[in-house]
Amino acid sequence: MARCDALAQFSEFAGGLTRIYLSSEQRLANDLVSGWMREAGMSARIDAVGNVVGRYEGERSGLPCLMLGSHLDTVRDAGKYDGMLGVVAAIECVHALNGAGRRLPFAIEVVGFADEEGVRFGATLLGSRAVAGTFDPTVLDMRDGSGVALRDAMKAFGLDPGAFARAARKREELLAYAELHIEQGPVLEAEDLPVGVVTAINGFVRMAVTLRGTAGHAGTVPMGLRRDALAAAAECVLAVERVGRSELNLVATVGRIEALPGAINVIPGEVRFTVDARAPVNDQRERAYEALTAEIGAVAKRRSLEHRIERLHDHPVTACAPWLMQQLDRAVGAEGIALRRLPSGAGHDGIAICAIADIAMLFVRCKRGVSHNPAEAIDRADAAIATRVLLRFVENFTVPGRA
Ligand code: HGY
Ligand code: MN
Ligand code: MN
Repeated sequence: MARCDALAQFSEFAGGLTRIYLSSEQRLANDLVSGWMREAGMSARIDAVGNVVGRYEGERSGLPCLMLGSHLDTVRDAGKYDGMLGVVAAIECVHALNGAGRRLPFAIEVVGFADEEGVRFGATLLGSRAVAGTFDPTVLDMRDGSGVALRDAMKAFGLDPGAFARAARKREELLAYAELHIEQGPVLEAEDLPVGVVTAINGFVRMAVTLRGTAGHAGTVPMGLRRDALAAAAECVLAVERVGRSELNLVATVGRIEALPGAINVIPGEVRFTVDARAPVNDQRERAYEALTAEIGAVAKRRSLEHRIERLHDHPVTACAPWLMQQLDRAVGAEGIALRRLPSGAGHDGIAICAIADIAMLFVRCKRGVSHNPAEAIDRADAAIATRVLLRFVENFTVPGRA
């Protein structure tokens, strides 16, 4: 808990927590985490895209690893457990093994992924995609809110944008990936359970929408002659909500909107907003995408505006591996806790890592299910239980058919 507090100090503003990819705050967090990894008996390095990678050798060096970890970046005005708890708990597990002088028939790697949230450049899972070898080089030209391209931000951080491929790991280097993460939802608290085993990570689609009308004088243009992009966007936002409400387990959100030129006395000529839609079933997500694009197109047509919809991400459901869920179940049962399986509405780095390894996730109860909010909170008792479950999982981890 104290380590999550310590990491929460590295923020781009005082009194809250925002730590984005390749920021000076991220460098401070990477340095602190690297030190904790070394204290726990690991080697620690920063990889080619800024992830922190700690390694604890097995019975002999060079063995394939069980990869643990989570992300060290945050959303804006974030809580201090989303991501960080998983990295800190994994380091605690290695610390316990090292303290007991234990070496396992596999190595353990702990990764602090550098950009799961995708807040700065809009492209999510950049750190874990690089590890998975699925990093898309076209994102190097994406720009952040102040116009800085990712490739330049990497150079400023001391990374060579052309060397991102060096972060990629081969499938044979990993036996599996397991991540401890707060639930960010209300289920475990509602059922009075400290932990649960994740079955799958919902599929998600992210869109960037631009509506173009005509900027004009707010005082002189009659209402009937306007092409007001913000009024149109308002209709779109309500349409997104309507689509989200249309089916069980579907969610749809407009998280960011920007009206240009943004002056009190100017009719907005252009509006840009984002859409994030998710579903536990793939064809439900695809149907929602079609409905969202149709609704936005219909508003634009009715108001004679131009519109552009860019699909930033479209990712199917990511299933957790049954053989890993069973081993997590055994660890949960050994702690005397009732078993509970549940899907994840939130995205995680396992979405990317599943390209090179089977994945598993252990959820920890969080207060009122609140997350992506400074009020995010967990019980220290739950953090202890979850870390013990993770340690049990690691100590008893076996790969079917592997000697
Ligand atoms: O958006 C998500 O689900 C994750 O927190 N990045
Ligand atoms: Mn998050
Ligand atoms: Mn997260």
